[in-house]
Amino acid sequence: MNTGSSNTNSPVIIIKDVSKSFGENHVLTGFNLTVNKGENVVVLGRSGTGKSVLIKCIVRLVDADRGSIQVLGTDIPSLKRDALDAMRSKIGFLFQSSALYDSMTVGENLEFPLRRHRKKNMHYDVNKLVSDALESVGLNGTQKMSPAELSGGMRKRIGIARTLILNPEVMLYDEPTTGLDPVTAREINHLILDVQEKFNTSSIIISHDMNCARMTANRIVVLIGGKCYAEGTYAELKQSQDKNVKQFFD
Ligand SMILES: Nc1ncnc2c1ncn2[C@@H]1O[C@H](COP(=O)(O)OP(=O)(O)OP(=O)(O)O)[C@@H](O)[C@H]1O
Ligand SMILES: [Mg+2]
Repeated sequence: MNTGSSNTNSPVIIIKDVSKSFGENHVLTGFNLTVNKGENVVVLGRSGTGKSVLIKCIVRLVDADRGSIQVLGTDIPSLKRDALDAMRSKIGFLFQSSALYDSMTVGENLEFPLRRHRKKNMHYDVNKLVSDALESVGLNGTQKMSPAELSGGMRKRIGIARTLILNPEVMLYDEPTTGLDPVTAREINHLILDVQEKFNTSSIIISHDMNCARMTANRIVVLIGGKCYAEGTYAELKQSQDKNVKQFFD
């Protein structure tokens, strides 16, 4: 269980009353969530309940229909293009699919966000930043490999390294352990804890893997019916008698 401390007085992400529909499909229906500095919050939900949509709204890969989303004190929905780009550079997003560019080497994949977001700042050593980021995920020396040569667990690690290279204050992990064997999944959970400790990131971790929730969460919110249905630590929710919450623990 994650017993690391977080500063509960300092909110980094504030999501209020966020709704999102696709036609008649009302995915988020007034979702609320606050994530504090240094905190790992796991959002638990069954498949298709809007977990990916939720974190896509945070980085505006999807535009929410209603509600407010603040990250690091900035109102996300009202940001113009350049300001949104700058804000995205502070947010590490690990996609459900890892989303590596298969035509680039691992090293080039890691350089990509640097070139995109730090174009004007020429005073950094790309090779050093790439090897530091790979070191952080335990995969130094893989710079020349192609994503096709990586295992699923390695792809997740490289996906995490690619977000760490910009030194993000916020991390959004979409299903970081799905599709991995239990041992590799545990390694990724440890990596998420390492990132939290080393970089003092505030994170939302989307999952339906209870081991991931147990190991990484300071707090868990359960997404049901487009809303935050229940909230608590792993130990608290495990005691719940509510059948909708219990189903995750059975
Ligand atoms: N761009 C889109 N256009 C239309 N519908 C969408 C779009 N993105 C998501 N949806 C719908 O929103 C709902 C929630 O999708 P989402 O991907 O957030 O689910 P999820 O909770 O992440 O599921 P999983 O655990 O399988 O990843 C689904 O019904 C999906 O079909
Ligand atoms: Mg998803």
